[in-house]
Amino acid sequence: MSTQEFNTHDVSTEDSSEHEELKHMVEQPAKKSEGAFYKWLMSKVHRLDKRLGDMSKGHKIFRLRNRKCNTTPRGTKKPKECTGHFELKHVNFSYPTKKDSEVLHDVSLVVNSGEVIALVGESGGGKSTIVKLMSYVYEPDHEGGTIFLDKIPLSEWDADYFSKQVVSVPQEPVLFSRSIHDNIAYGVHLTREEVVDVAKKANAHEFILKLDRGYESVVGERGITLSGGQRQRICIARALARKPTVLLLDEATSALDSKSEHLVHKSIQDIIDDKTRVMSVVIIAHRLATVKSADKIFVINGGRVAQVGSHVQLMKKKGLYAEFVQQQALEETDDATPAMCA
Ligand SMILES: Nc1ncnc2c1ncn2[C@@H]1O[C@H](COP(=O)(O)OP(=O)(O)OP(=O)(O)O)[C@@H](O)[C@H]1O
Ligand SMILES: [Mg+2]
Repeated sequence: MSTQEFNTHDVSTEDSSEHEELKHMVEQPAKKSEGAFYKWLMSKVHRLDKRLGDMSKGHKIFRLRNRKCNTTPRGTKKPKECTGHFELKHVNFSYPTKKDSEVLHDVSLVVNSGEVIALVGESGGGKSTIVKLMSYVYEPDHEGGTIFLDKIPLSEWDADYFSKQVVSVPQEPVLFSRSIHDNIAYGVHLTREEVVDVAKKANAHEFILKLDRGYESVVGERGITLSGGQRQRICIARALARKPTVLLLDEATSALDSKSEHLVHKSIQDIIDDKTRVMSVVIIAHRLATVKSADKIFVINGGRVAQVGSHVQLMKKKGLYAEFVQQQALEETDDATPAMCA
């Protein structure tokens, strides 16, 4: 039984005994005074509050433990310098739940140190899967090729060191039920000034200031609700705060209103244009502007690399990329905020 299953079992057993206790008290009110009942109820409220706190702390521990066991490198390599050179060599991959259906077939790609590369292609083609493999959420199939960071196979890296070098912003980012400050400074110690600095870079500072409690506003169930675009900008700020060598960005496609989408896009463009940037950037791009400014574009189709080249090179060839650009140009006439991919 896994730790998480154990806890679920533990909680439900305890809940049913408490339920019995409450039933007993309500059914025999004469035996208890109102004061005793109130005292009993408050003790349960305090206990529940503590348990919720423990569970949220525990949740973080489970996530970290699970990552260590299954999805983080188990090696010892932590070189003095990491340049952010990334390489996928003949990678094949099937999801553990669907072992009989290969999602990536013989994918090879290189990201040179400091380069910006864009992955484009139709929905379901395998772009997010490639990014998940690059951040070691999954490993290639057995004998299904190798992924290298600075020419060292990912499995040989020290887990903590690797997680500092390679940081990803997923398509549907998750925030913790904590303050905005804590969400941005998650996993690193930052002063408020440093948090504000990265929030500005991610175009999040202005909307944060407009919240009632600013950077102290609590997000989630017990706090404020943020739009998809606001969440993604907080996650971009969180990623920048960690000063990674490789930034993996899965641009959100849905649930963003056009203003929010524009601001997310601006943050991404600012990162690409930053002349002081030392990190390599891999973007799953849906907007032509982002794609155009990438050093290299990989068109991913049906789990394979269908085309590679710069915007100019790919436009000269008749193929999938040129078709995408044409399609987007058509959409642009109908819609002010088109998407590169379906
Ligand atoms: N967790 C998963 N388990 C099993 N199959 C999955 C899982 N995630 C994705 N897939 C499958 O893998 C294939 C590639 O999916 P992926 O999410 O990488 O595509 P994508 O190119 O990122 O698409 P989009 O542009 O819609 O985000 C799809 O067929 C998808 O159904
Ligand atoms: Mg995707």
